[in-house]
Amino acid sequence: MNHDFSNKTIIVTGAASGMGRAATLKLREYGATVYAADRNHSALQKTCEQSGAEPCVIDISKSDECNALVEKVKAEQGKLDGLANFAGVLKRTGLLDCTDEEFDFVMDINVKGCFYLCREAARQMRPQGFGSIVNVSSIWSEIAAAGVFGYCVSKGAVSQITRSAALDLAGTGVRINEVRPGETNTAMLASERGYEMSQAEIDAKLTEIADSIPEKRLAEPYEIADAAIFLLSDQSSYMQGASITVDGGYTIC
Ligand SMILES: NC(=O)c1ccc[n+]([C@@H]2O[C@H](COP(=O)([O-])OP(=O)(O)OC[C@H]3O[C@@H](n4cnc5c(N)ncnc54)[C@H](O)[C@@H]3O)[C@@H](O)[C@H]2O)c1
Repeated sequence: MNHDFSNKTIIVTGAASGMGRAATLKLREYGATVYAADRNHSALQKTCEQSGAEPCVIDISKSDECNALVEKVKAEQGKLDGLANFAGVLKRTGLLDCTDEEFDFVMDINVKGCFYLCREAARQMRPQGFGSIVNVSSIWSEIAAAGVFGYCVSKGAVSQITRSAALDLAGTGVRINEVRPGETNTAMLASERGYEMSQAEIDAKLTEIADSIPEKRLAEPYEIADAAIFLLSDQSSYMQGASITVDGGYTIC
C-alpha cells in the first residue's frame, strides 16, 4: 500500500533499531516529518542520517523526557499527527528467577514509557481533534511463553493501555490501536541469550523458532512497520482500540 504522509508529523520511538528504524525509513519515504526517538545515540544518528528524520535522544522510562519530546514537536510543528511506540526491552528470566530489578527495568520501559508517551500525546492531540497513536505489544500479550515472565506481563499491560485509552479517547478524533508482532528478525530476538549460548547455538535456536511458525520464517522488521503505518494513516480511520496480529500464523495454532 502506498501512503501519503507529506503533511503529517510523527514521533517514532525505538527508531535506532529493528522495527522502529524500519518504520522511520518508510515514513520518511512517504513524506512524513519524523521525530525519531531512542536512547541509543550512535545508532539513532545512523537512522537519521539515512532518512532525514530528526534525532531525539530520550529515555522513555522518564516521564519528564517523554513530556518534553511531545511538547517540543507540538511547539515546532504546531500539531502532532501520530505517535508510534516501538521502544521496548526484554529480559529472559521466568517467575522463579526474575529479580526485582529486572521486573522494574522491563515495566519502567515497556509499560510506564508507553503510558507516559500515550498520555502526553493524547493531551496534545485532543484539543486538535485528530491524531493516531500506535502501540507495539507482542504475541506474548495474548498467549504466554516460559522464561520471559516480566516481558509477557509488560506486553499484556501494553494491550490494556491500548484498549483502556481507546475508550477514553473514542469520539475525540484521536485513535489508539496496536500492532501485535510475532517472532521478528531484529536484535531483540537474539538478545539476552549470550550468557549460556554460543553464536552457533543462538543461530540454531533462531532456525528452530522459524520452523515453529506456520509461515516457516521470521518476520522482517518492515513487515511489522507496514501494519503500524496503516494504523497511523487515514486508511484506518474507523479503527479504535484494535490489535493487528502480524505473526505468520503463530497464534492460530
Ligand atoms: N523482535 C521480536 O521478535 C518482537 C516480537 C514482538 C514484539 N516486539 C516488540 O517490538 C518492539 C520493537 O522491538 P525490536 O525487535 O525492533 O527491538 P530492538 O531491540 O531492535 O529495538 C528496540 C529499540 O528500543 C530502544 N529502547 C530501549 N529502551 C529504551 C528507552 N528506555 N528509551 C528509549 N529507547 C529505548 C533501543 O535502544 C532499541 O533501539 C518492542 O516493543 C518489542 O518488545 C518484538
